[in-house]
Amino acid sequence: MDTITATAQFIEQKFADEGSGHDWAHIRRVWLLAKRLAQAEPTANLEVTELAALLHDIADWKFHGGDYEAGPRAAREWLVSQQVSEAVIAQVQTVIREVSFKGLGVETPVSSIESALVQDADRLDAIGAIGIARAFAYGGHKGRPLHDPGIAPVAHDSFASYQKNAAPTLNHFYEKLLHLKDRLHTDGARQIAAQRHEFMEAYVARFLAEWDGQD
Ligand code: ADP
Ligand code: NI
Repeated sequence: MDTITATAQFIEQKFADEGSGHDWAHIRRVWLLAKRLAQAEPTANLEVTELAALLHDIADWKFHGGDYEAGPRAAREWLVSQQVSEAVIAQVQTVIREVSFKGLGVETPVSSIESALVQDADRLDAIGAIGIARAFAYGGHKGRPLHDPGIAPVAHDSFASYQKNAAPTLNHFYEKLLHLKDRLHTDGARQIAAQRHEFMEAYVARFLAEWDGQD
């Protein structure tokens, strides 16, 4: 079995019972999107892109006491067990370190095309119909209200304040989701994002109308 297939099976099993938004279905979509976006980027290394997409959420800092190296470390451990070269392992670790959104006011630059592809794919899965579903699933998981017009959105300018955020879920659209289309790196992702963004804007407009008892 090749390393990509083995990694996909390993992650599918590991995330089988994950209900927090970092499920296998999310990882599978990020993998599919990253592969698709890579077709338009001939300089991208497909092995690094696919492995990083599959491993990008392997040990999310949010669930590991804020240890940002937990993910890169777990990815390395798996890839070493698969006899993957040191050069590829180091590149995959870099992609994992760079992938996460860290607050509206925090830049999240990428240092390679592979990192750009995986970050873009992960962000595309946070917007559109699936993105809306994931946001409310996450908010429900955390016991947050759908919306509270009395609580204003905040443009978090540090990862720490973004992490501590416990606002109602609709605020997340203003604090992250509606900005993602402007924070993508590849033209392919920008093209896909356009429709997804439009759909989210229409959704939020309807949400607010219905909130106030309109049609
Ligand atoms: P990333 O994919 O950049 O690492 P996260 O791991 O923070 O993003 O988020 C995973 C999913 O949960 C995404 O769909 C994201 O939009 C959603 N999410 C994260 N924080 C919140 C929040 N405060 N309210 C609602 N949804 C959230
Ligand atoms: Ni992800």
